[in-house]
Amino acid sequence: MSGVRLCALDDLDENDSAAFSADIEGVNTALMVIRQLENVYAYVNSCPHIGTPLDFMPGQFLTLEKDLILCSTHGALFRIEDGECVHGPCIGKHLKPLACSVHDGDVWLD
Ligand code: FES
Repeated sequence: MSGVRLCALDDLDENDSAAFSADIEGVNTALMVIRQLENVYAYVNSCPHIGTPLDFMPGQFLTLEKDLILCSTHGALFRIEDGECVHGPCIGKHLKPLACSVHDGDVWLD
């Protein structure tokens, strides 16, 4: 298996998020992973508005309803599935996606 192992899938609750950092193309990069049941999504932890990290508390990226990603700086909201901003100052822009997948119960950056 090539890529970077981030965690076990069961380390994430079924509708939750976590913060990681990984070496991507030689650069130490902060990222977020969102789990929705058996699906995982990963994005660079940088808001397309002004580039700040999104999480207010480390690893907490979701709204209370856990249906959207929330930027804690100015309240932008992003769809979990594709990272598109659907509300806020950067509407229509996207979080930078990172390919990730689940193999044998572990979450990997591909
Ligand atoms: S930095 Fe994210 S909404 Fe402004």
